[in-house]
Amino acid sequence: MKILGISGSPRRDSVTAQLVKEVLAGAEAECETEFVSLSGKRIGPCVACLGCVRDNVCALNDDLAGLRESIVSADAYVIGAANFYGVLNGLTHCFLERWYQFRHREGKLVAGKLGVAVGVGGGMPAPAAESIKAFLQYHQVECVGEVTAQGPACCFTCGYGEDCKVGAIHMFFGAGTKITPEIIPTLEKQPEAVGAARAAGKILSDRLLALALAT
Ligand SMILES: Cc1cc2nc3c(=O)[nH]c(=O)nc-3n(C[C@H](O)[C@H](O)[C@H](O)COP(=O)(O)O)c2cc1C
Repeated sequence: MKILGISGSPRRDSVTAQLVKEVLAGAEAECETEFVSLSGKRIGPCVACLGCVRDNVCALNDDLAGLRESIVSADAYVIGAANFYGVLNGLTHCFLERWYQFRHREGKLVAGKLGVAVGVGGGMPAPAAESIKAFLQYHQVECVGEVTAQGPACCFTCGYGEDCKVGAIHMFFGAGTKITPEIIPTLEKQPEAVGAARAAGKILSDRLLALALAT
């Protein structure tokens, strides 16, 4: 049984990537796992050309093509995104839009599989996880867990964070906040999120085992 973990954050080795890896770690005693970061990948949106209707293969030629086999061969998915403007970030949105190729002809290439949704945000991580859950539901992938954590907004390191009145430091911490290492969110500072991720991975692998035994 194979679980495919996807981090949709444009930042490599970000909190989203780390949290997805923690879910995979919770499952890897019983399942094979593969981790892919979408960081640096060129994946455009679905253009509704219907080029995938007859053969369930997207007609667009970009980096999603190289991921198709991993998606199709996986038995379950752990998909993580960052909250950008209250929804999942655009790269993850494009990635999941392109799953439209699997929706034709009963969608059997992904329908009936299992998933875990992972959301990260500077202040509000839940909307990203909720968006992923909705995508999974469209594809009839059962979401067996939802995991969230806080990540570091770019404003911690942009150089203007303490003074910028429209940035995350003012918004989430209040005017006058000094940026110190202690207030920068990292996954190590959120052991409860790591625990929840490991537990979600275990639930996912147990469900996969049960499905395998039942067939
Ligand atoms: C363009 C942009 C918009 C963002 N909008 C939000 C937001 O609306 N709410 C929020 O909680 N965090 C927001 N953030 C902060 C990110 O969610 C945060 O930096 C998170 O850690 C990103 O995930 P990563 O660490 O895995 O890259 C935004 C970040 C960017 C770059």
